[in-house]
Amino acid sequence: MDARALKIEAAKVALSYVEDGMRLGIGTGSTAEEFLNLLAEKVDGGFHVKGVPTSEKTAHLCVQLGIPLYSLDEMPELDLTIDGTDEVDGDLRLIKGGGGALLREKIVACASSKMIVIADESKQVETLGAFPLPVEAMPFGLEATRMAIAKAAEKLGLSGEIALRQDRDGPFETDGGHYILDASFGRIPDAEALSESLNAIPGVVEHGLFLNIASAAIIAGSSGVRTLTA
Ligand code: A5P
Repeated sequence: MDARALKIEAAKVALSYVEDGMRLGIGTGSTAEEFLNLLAEKVDGGFHVKGVPTSEKTAHLCVQLGIPLYSLDEMPELDLTIDGTDEVDGDLRLIKGGGGALLREKIVACASSKMIVIADESKQVETLGAFPLPVEAMPFGLEATRMAIAKAAEKLGLSGEIALRQDRDGPFETDGGHYILDASFGRIPDAEALSESLNAIPGVVEHGLFLNIASAAIIAGSSGVRTLTA
C-alpha cells in the first residue's frame, strides 16, 4: 500500500469516531484532507457535523466539499478534533506544523474534548525530532527570537540549524501573519523542557510540540491499522 492508501485507511477508522451532530475540529494537511473527503461523502448522505477549520486552506476545502463551517468564536467548545501529524511518539507527543498551521491547530485541538491524530506509519517515531520543529514567530525582532531559541536549546544540549521557512516569493507567512522557524535539533529527549523554554521566549507565538493534547493516534501500516491511546 502506498502512503496515500495508508492515510485513507487511518481516516476511515477516524470517521467511525465521529457521531451525528458533533462539533468537529478539522485538521490541515494531506492526511486530514483524506478524512475530509470521507466526511464529505457522509455529510452528502444526510449526516450532520459542525466543523471548525484549522487553516484557511482547510476552510476553503470544506466550502468546496459542502461541510458546514463555524468559527471557533461561534462555537468555542468542540467535541472532537481530527488532524494529521508530522511525528508521533509512543506517549502521543507530536510534532506538527509541517504545513504551517500549527497555531490554529493547537488552539482548535485544545478547545476540543478529544483530539485524534491520523497518520501513516512513517510518522511514528521512538523519539521526536527527526522532523525539524516548526516554531511560529513574530516577524518583529525575528533574529533576536532566533538567537533566543538557539540559546534556550543549547541549555538543553540541543543544537542545529534554525531556518526561516521560505515560500515562492519570500518568507512563508502563516494564516496569522507570522513566520515559521524550522529548528533542526535532531533527537529531542526532553520535549516538555523544550516546550517550556520556547514558551518563555516573547517572540515565539507558538511551537509545534503538542504535548498532552492528543488522546489517540490512529496509525495505518502495511500490517493494518493500530490505535494508540493515552
Ligand atoms: C499542518 O500544519 C501540519 O501540522 C499537518 O497536520 C502535518 O504537517 C501533517 O501533514 P500531512 O498529513 O500532509 O503529512
